[in-house]
Amino acid sequence: MKVLVTGGMGYIGSHTCIQMLAAGMTPIIIDNLYNSKPSVLGRIKEVTGVDVQFIEGDIRDKAFLTKVLKANDIQSVIHFAGLKAVGESVEKPLEYYDNNVHGTLVLVDAMREAGVSSLIFSSSATVYGDPASVPIKEDFPTSATNPYGRSKLIVEECLTDFQHANPDWSITLLRYFNPVGSHPSGKLGEDPQGIPNNLMPFIAQVAVGRREHLSIFGNDYPTIDGTGVRDYIHVMDLADGHIAALNGVGAKAGLHTYNLGAGKGYSVLEMVQAFEKASGNPIAYQFAPRRAGDIAECWADSSKAEHDLGWKATRTVDEMTQDTWRWQSHNPQGYPDEQA
Ligand code: NAD
Ligand code: UFG
Repeated sequence: MKVLVTGGMGYIGSHTCIQMLAAGMTPIIIDNLYNSKPSVLGRIKEVTGVDVQFIEGDIRDKAFLTKVLKANDIQSVIHFAGLKAVGESVEKPLEYYDNNVHGTLVLVDAMREAGVSSLIFSSSATVYGDPASVPIKEDFPTSATNPYGRSKLIVEECLTDFQHANPDWSITLLRYFNPVGSHPSGKLGEDPQGIPNNLMPFIAQVAVGRREHLSIFGNDYPTIDGTGVRDYIHVMDLADGHIAALNGVGAKAGLHTYNLGAGKGYSVLEMVQAFEKASGNPIAYQFAPRRAGDIAECWADSSKAEHDLGWKATRTVDEMTQDTWRWQSHNPQGYPDEQA
């Protein structure tokens, strides 16, 4: 099965391509390299032995997309491409709506023109806003607290309307919880540019000596130890979730919505301790005020994905921290700029 993977050079996309190859699928990547480096391709080859086809381009370019879709006999599209930094989205809302909303509409329009009617979309647990209770199920109310989250919500709503008008399409909304970890080889991982926004890459950079200390945003939440609690999911489990979705519902007409989480919450302090154990290095931290827009706790009920797709996260927090440390300690500055 040939699958177009938008944003396939990025963190989740690159790991998903590796698992697709293992599952006998053929990923074809398009990416504008806005937040990724060409050397990712060489790393995918080192791990899989396969030269994955990569075509540089932008999802907002309909003529380009249509040409790629038609020329490659694509059966499905997994759509990762987009911007993802919550704080930046508050400063640059137009860029976020342009990339995430407009970009997705152009992609669907191109798919329609090329006759490709199976789409898997990278959504986020952020669409649940501040949930009334945990664990979160797919039928919980949705809301947005920042432009990034709103862009995901708007896309979900646009795709829902589109699927209703085109009932022969298969559209799958995958709501990721907190993806962390790396390929177990240590050759691929998360490589944020500049100061990391997310917890795990920040801890990893403290552990490797790139940053002095972690600021823990809030220690007065009504949680086990006062720090924020999240559902961390190993990126390899998340990658497998895409293969399960493609196999399970990728050819089944309808709108399919799934939480992809591990189903268990861990506090910031618990993640710090787990990382200290994995790396053997102390993680210096200081408590800081709460971060605007953060919620106390969030974890998934992913039983719908288990029931429908036969998918379940299996990798432990120790694997998440050990794999992240392998990646970070072997690649302290992230991916090289040029392809090796
Ligand atoms: P990433 O930034 O590592 O990967 C995204 C890729 O898309 C990058 O390689 C980037 O260069 C590319 N891209 C961006 N705009 C593009 C455009 N207009 N045309 C072509 N390529 C473009 O991000 P990621 O962590 O791999 O996330 C993938 C998807 O999952 C995103 O849509 C993100 O919003 C969503 N998501 C991520 C998380 C997370 O914590 N990482 C959580 C929930 C949802
Ligand atoms: N945190 C710190 N210090 C940091 C970074 C984070 O204490 O330097 C804390 C946060 O306050 C939160 C937890 O660590 O309690 C996790 O924060 P992340 O920024 O890693 O993740 P979020 O849960 O805020 O958000 C992430 C993605 C969103 C996505 C969401 C889905 O950034 O894009 O998961 O649940 F929508």
